[in-house]
Amino acid sequence: MFLAAQAQLFFNAGFENSSLTISNALYELAWNPEIQEKTREEIQTVLKKYDGKITYDSIGEMKYLASVMLETLRKYPVLQWLSRIPMEPYTFSGTKVTIPKDQQVFIPIYSIQRDPEIFPNPEAFDPDRFSEENIKTRHSMSHLPFGDGPRHCSGIRLAKVQLKVAMVTILSKYKVEVCEKTRQVYKPDKRPLFLLQPADGIYLKMTKLATV
Ligand code: HEM
Repeated sequence: MFLAAQAQLFFNAGFENSSLTISNALYELAWNPEIQEKTREEIQTVLKKYDGKITYDSIGEMKYLASVMLETLRKYPVLQWLSRIPMEPYTFSGTKVTIPKDQQVFIPIYSIQRDPEIFPNPEAFDPDRFSEENIKTRHSMSHLPFGDGPRHCSGIRLAKVQLKVAMVTILSKYKVEVCEKTRQVYKPDKRPLFLLQPADGIYLKMTKLATV
């Protein structure tokens, strides 16, 4: 029973988060064709070096694709907030603000990641925010799509690999474009309590690349 519950938890925690993130990334790349082309060029260059094979090493070399996925998770953190219950009172250093023991607190990931003081022009999709140099300029807690601390996402490594494998598989074969059914403004579905997802799905036009 315990093992079955753990297996179910892994499936639930992993499936929807990953599929939504892939859809959100393709949505942004359809609206930003020059970023899509730059991502595809990197994929093609690295795959050529690895004989066309998608391996742990080859996807590890795709740094721009990694930035594209981090920027996707900044704009669309599938889990919009984290929750914690302190086991003892905690006072923020340099302040008189104390969170009492057992007081549940919520950490608003979505609001932090759309804060213009942390991410200027937050509506713009800009993977360069996640270049190695730019990451160093921000507080490490300003990007929390996988949570942090001892209870952070335990599938983070698998998640990052599967997101990249999906993107490489799609972008190396297909061009992704907006079509008449694609929403210009991302409309979140208000029904789920904490999962960020588009209200009416995402519609895109996929065209097979001539070279495939
Ligand atoms: C894009 C993909 C994913 C995102 C954005 C994501 C995000 C998160 C977040 C925000 C949490 C809460 C962390 C916290 O409270 O600090 C979490 C927990 C968790 N995630 Fe993920 N996740 C993803 C994929 C996966 C995958 C693929 C798996 C496993 C196959 C997984 C397994 C888990 C588990 C088991 C927990 C609960 C950890 C605990 O409570 O100790 N996740 N995830």
